[in-house]
Amino acid sequence: MSQHEPRPDPDEPSITERAGGPDAFVELVDRFYERVEQDAVLRPMYPEDLEPGKRHLALFFAQYWGGGPVYSEERGHPRLRMRHAGFPIDRDAALRWATHMADAVRSMRFPSDVEHAILLYVSRFTPSMINRADDLLPPDPAEG
Ligand code: HEM
Repeated sequence: MSQHEPRPDPDEPSITERAGGPDAFVELVDRFYERVEQDAVLRPMYPEDLEPGKRHLALFFAQYWGGGPVYSEERGHPRLRMRHAGFPIDRDAALRWATHMADAVRSMRFPSDVEHAILLYVSRFTPSMINRADDLLPPDPAEG
């Protein structure tokens, strides 16, 4: 089982159900993208037409949180690090992404354990998308 497939307990409703169903992730992603559209660093990384990416992200979340395999039926294996390799993601970009996502998640007023699970997930996986050093920082001696 990969890191992108949580282990569901079949006796418990999925996080997707408890969040309000797949449409809750459509709303979450809308709120996230409203923030991305205002972000001078992130917006240029995204294509002009934001709609396909919005759809894929909402389907990915719904699938990740136990809502069924629609994302993989459309897109195949997530391979998220690979899919992000073409975007210049440094720590600054990742922090911006995680901040907008955390703001969007909190604005949804999910049940608190659902909110907590999603925030933990965001904080865990956002750093793994970083694929270049920050222009804003001097080199990290621990990495050299
Ligand atoms: C770290 C900062 C991140 C940046 C700057 C970023 C940026 C992007 C961009 C530019 C796209 C393409 C959108 C399009 O083609 O319309 C994308 C797609 C996507 N991102 Fe991210 N992303 C980040 C982190 C993450 C994280 C942490 C996740 C989830 C764990 C994630 C999940 C996705 C998914 C599911 C897609 C759609 C993939 C597909 O087309 O099937 N991203 N991202």
